[in-house]
Amino acid sequence: MQVVHTIADLRSALAGRGRPAFVPTMGNLHAGHMALVRQAKPLGEVLVASIFVNRLQFLPHEDFDSYPRTLQADCAQLEAQGCDIVFAPKESDLYPQPQTFTVHPDPALADILEGHFRPGFFTGVCTVVLKLFNAVFGTTGGGTAVFGKKDYQQRLVIERMVQQLALPITIVGAEIARAEGGLALSSRNGYLSAEQLEQARALSAALHSLAQAARQGQQPLPVLEAQTTQALNALGWQTDYLTVRLRDSLQRPAAEQLADTPLVALGAARLGSTRLIDNLEF
Ligand code: PAJ
Repeated sequence: MQVVHTIADLRSALAGRGRPAFVPTMGNLHAGHMALVRQAKPLGEVLVASIFVNRLQFLPHEDFDSYPRTLQADCAQLEAQGCDIVFAPKESDLYPQPQTFTVHPDPALADILEGHFRPGFFTGVCTVVLKLFNAVFGTTGGGTAVFGKKDYQQRLVIERMVQQLALPITIVGAEIARAEGGLALSSRNGYLSAEQLEQARALSAALHSLAQAARQGQQPLPVLEAQTTQALNALGWQTDYLTVRLRDSLQRPAAEQLADTPLVALGAARLGSTRLIDNLEF
């Protein structure tokens, strides 16, 4: 496995290797990331993972400085899964000048939910992902990239960007990897105390009960969302949103769509200072 830091070295390493399968990450890799890597392996002729904590997608008060950086352990895991190339740029490699050209995704998709609570988040994500795509696929005639459905809105925004900008890249979505008890695996779970880890199961449980209640349609959706939020907050969470949306647009479903349209319940909530997200397609 080769570990490279600059776009030029990445392109040299890729020369003559065929079409890449690519898994972008911010590192501190866990079993959820590894499932993406395993899924990506047969989707290209050369498997590339990137590790880069992208300052552009963090707000000033967020955890950019404390985000865990564990490059050596990450590389060991990637090598064990058959990764061929790790692209681990320093900030000065990827952003040698301040990144003043940025990608602004459709506000209808990107300024709601995560984008509402983290303004500019998807501009930061799209900008770095487009740049990573150019680094990985710019000299290979395209390829495939794998994104986890844990970040449901992120995968949708990236799919739309690829479509609208006609990038020669296929986006594949990977199912959510969960710990026993249902908690979605996340690098941020490492911030939780043992007690909070127990409490953290309640987020996926809340999504399950919201989805079930929405299908049954006993009450209007806003009432169900408010009730679920109240119940989660009573368990010590501070909820940003718990909501049911149409899977493809993330817009609110009409009442008559609740019975049988493909929907997704999405949630974001904080336990202490740790903010977690999760979702459930139903
Ligand atoms: P990061 O949070 O490191 O996640 C990298 C990829 O792993 C994303 O596609 C994410 O959805 C996926 N992932 C994380 N936890 C998962 C889980 N429990 N199950 C399935 N997939 C999971 O997402 C980012 O990094 C960044 O925004 C990035 C796309 C790299 C741009 O900076």
